[in-house]
Amino acid sequence: MIEQYDISLAKPADAGTIAVMSRDYVEYGLEWQWKPARIAKKIRANDTNVAVARLGKAIVACAIMRYAEIEAHLELLAVQPNYRKRGIGRHLVAWLTETADVAGIQVIYVETRIGNAGARSFYARLGYKDIEIVPRYYCGRESAVRLAYDMHRNR
Ligand SMILES: CC(C)(COP(=O)(O)OP(=O)(O)OC[C@H]1O[C@@H](n2cnc3c(N)ncnc32)[C@H](O)[C@@H]1OP(=O)(O)O)[C@@H](O)C(=O)NCCC(=O)NCCS
Repeated sequence: MIEQYDISLAKPADAGTIAVMSRDYVEYGLEWQWKPARIAKKIRANDTNVAVARLGKAIVACAIMRYAEIEAHLELLAVQPNYRKRGIGRHLVAWLTETADVAGIQVIYVETRIGNAGARSFYARLGYKDIEIVPRYYCGRESAVRLAYDMHRNR
C-alpha cells in the first residue's frame, strides 16, 4: 500500500534536509554545491519554487524549479531511496509543471549526470527529450545530458 503523502512548498526549516538529499543522492562523488544556505535562498526567491513531498513530518522527495519568461529549469529532484518507483517523482514534477503551465512557460530544461541511467529513463518516461551533451558540466569533471520538455507537445 502507498502511504498518503502531501506536496507543498518547502519551508525555511526544510533547507538542511533538502541539501543533504542533494549531496547524497544527486551530487555524490562531486563537490557539494547545494548546501543549506543556497537552498534557503532558493526557498525565499521569487522566481523559484522549492517543493517537497511529505509523509507525516518526513520529507520523502524534493524538487526545485526556477521560472524565467518562457523557460523553466528543473534544478534539483530527489526521492528518498525507500520511496522510489511509487510515482512520487512523477507527481512532484507534474505539480511543478502545472505551475509552469499557468505561468506561460513553453519549455522546461533539466540536466542530469551522463552516467545517471535511472534519471534519464525517468525523464524519458515523463516526455523529456535529450537535446545535448554538456561537457564537464558538473564541477568541471562530469558531463551532463540536457533534456527538454515541450509544454505544447505534451499538453
Ligand atoms: C530519478 C528519481 C527522481 C525517480 O523518482 P521516482 O519517484 O522513483 O520515479 P517514479 O516512481 O515517479 O517513476 C516514473 C516513471 O519513471 C520510471 N523510472 C523511475 N526510476 C527509474 C529508473 N531508475 N530506471 C528506469 N525507469 C525508472 C518508472 O518506472 C516510471 O515509469 P512508468 O511510466 O512506466 O510507470 C529517483 O530515482 C531519484 O531520486 N534518484 C536519485 C536522484 C536523481 O537521480 N535525481 C534526478 C537527477 S537530478
